[in-house]
Amino acid sequence: MIKGDSSEYNLITDQIQKLQIGDVCLTCEIGLREGLGTKTIIDAVRKQEPKFYKHIAIDPYGDLSYEHYDGEGNVVAGYTEEMKQRTVSHLYKVYPEFTFFHMTDDYFFDTMSQGHQFCIENTLMLYGLYKVVHLDGPHTTKAVIDELSFFIPRIDSKGLIIIDDYPDIQMGIVDMLLKTYNFNVATKGDNKIVYQKEI
Ligand SMILES: C[S@@+](CC[C@H](N)C(=O)[O-])C[C@H]1O[C@@H](n2cnc3c(N)ncnc32)[C@H](O)[C@@H]1O
Repeated sequence: MIKGDSSEYNLITDQIQKLQIGDVCLTCEIGLREGLGTKTIIDAVRKQEPKFYKHIAIDPYGDLSYEHYDGEGNVVAGYTEEMKQRTVSHLYKVYPEFTFFHMTDDYFFDTMSQGHQFCIENTLMLYGLYKVVHLDGPHTTKAVIDELSFFIPRIDSKGLIIIDDYPDIQMGIVDMLLKTYNFNVATKGDNKIVYQKEI
């Protein structure tokens, strides 16, 4: 049912296992596809039993034509509405922590910058600090920099930013941006790189 199109999901699990997750936890994946990134994050966070946990997944599906990698031009990759229906309904069934935003990352940033509502002791609280973010939507340098511009000021203490397909991105500028804001490389493989906020 849940499938992935990448590799090195174990890097995500290993780094989340090392985190100290408090009572309230927010995580996010840009680019849900068939759910393996999201499942990996939720399963790892769940082991630490946060009292209040929300995982946000953002994906427009809709068989969109867009630029996946720098200089590639627009491509349709088959991320269909049928895929959305199948994946999202399954994740809602098995994970109460799961919340889906059927939109592009840029529209999410325009509309959801203030955080997410958590119901704590019958009272709504707004919380907007992300502990783990997996960037696995468009892999162009511009898209990743726009995503980082949103998430960098919203990462929780010691939080993680995971970038998929990083060798295809101009990592010089991405690395400089992250290091400027006190993120360092926690681990990397051939495909995924994990940055951690040092403070
Ligand atoms: C590489 S797949 C994601 C794979 C998934 N994270 C996994 O681990 O299996 C890329 C996904 O990004 C979505 N996507 C494309 N443009 C997007 C955008 N602007 N914002 C958010 N998601 C986007 C696509 O619809 C597609 O489902």
